[in-house]
Amino acid sequence: DVQGMTDGFGRRIDYLRISVTDRCDLRCRYCMAERMTFLPRSAILTLEEIAIIADRFIARGVTKIRLSGGEPLLRRDFADLVRRIGRHIGKGLDELTLTTNGTHLAEHAEMLAQAGVKRVNVSLDTLDPAVFSFITRVGDVRPVLQGIAAARTAGIAVKINMVALKGLNDDAFLPMLRWCDDHGHDLTLIETMPLGDVGEDRSDRFLPLSHVLQQIRETHAVTPLADRTSGPARYFAVEGFRVRLGLITPLSETFCAGCNRMRLTCQGRIYMCLGHDDHIDLKSAFREGGVAAVDALLDRALATKPLAHDFRIGGDALAATKRHMSVTGG
Ligand code: GTP
Ligand code: 5AD
Ligand code: SF4
Repeated sequence: DVQGMTDGFGRRIDYLRISVTDRCDLRCRYCMAERMTFLPRSAILTLEEIAIIADRFIARGVTKIRLSGGEPLLRRDFADLVRRIGRHIGKGLDELTLTTNGTHLAEHAEMLAQAGVKRVNVSLDTLDPAVFSFITRVGDVRPVLQGIAAARTAGIAVKINMVALKGLNDDAFLPMLRWCDDHGHDLTLIETMPLGDVGEDRSDRFLPLSHVLQQIRETHAVTPLADRTSGPARYFAVEGFRVRLGLITPLSETFCAGCNRMRLTCQGRIYMCLGHDDHIDLKSAFREGGVAAVDALLDRALATKPLAHDFRIGGDALAATKRHMSVTGG
């Protein structure tokens, strides 16, 4: 019988996000610097270690796991990890899912479906090939679109993540919603958060989603929906569209009071909040003391989970958090 985990503010923590690699084949401007130094292999957990730690978290009451990165599908033998964690689905684990940039989704879609993945989130900030190449610095939108189609063919639901970027995709929210509607994908818009020095001032691109919502309301009736995936998004129905529109507003309207999550990075660190640099080194403890050490650290981590992030946009151009988004996986 599982006791479940609760933090110092009485929040139930049952959702684990695991970043399986810090590497990525794209260089999205809001996420990475143009030139990145990635972690050496010796600094990261083996897939075997990730699997054992994940088992322990599930035993402690985690019911949802999201794999992320960097780009998770770039991790070698990723399929083994998905299959291994997937064995818990329906036996303690309600959901195993991932957030991906989609570039390699087509090759993996069938494997993911067979391992029990029912939904994936795909980052796609624009459908325009030139804008896509600009935002991602090195990317081509076509394999991403093929990946999304392959996921659907394999029976996996897709949610599109679109980071709202002033001057880059701010004229494309309704067209993207239309495209998503045509294909049956939910769409989530995201405010850009200041994580890591990416060599650009994100306040120049920051767009409060309250403005976007207002803009949409000028032409379409918008109704808030009660359903929440116990995640940060608030969902809306937009007149004329069947799919849901989600808004993730870490800056303009925080959602930390309902936080249910913690993060394990590929370096084996636990971060209790995306917006704080404090973390606990689980890797060393695990290598020295095995799963018993994991338990002890988990209890300590829960007690230190902060009430909220303290992201700000504007003022200084300094990132609120030194770590890049790609290390913690969003
Ligand atoms: P669910 O797992 O269903 O809740 O999906 P999600 O939308 O939270 O996950 P996804 O990985 O697709 O992330 C979408 C956006 O939400 C990214 O920009 C994440 O950085 C952001 N996000 C996810 N969790 C948190 C969080 O706890 N705090 C903040 N500030 N942002 C988060
Ligand atoms: N602010 C908001 N979202 C971000 N993502 C990456 N960097 C940022 C940022 N600085 C998003 C990606 C992906 C998800 C994991 O996080 O677009 O969809
Ligand atoms: Fe939770 Fe921190 Fe995210 Fe807030 S910013 S929702 S406290 S992880």
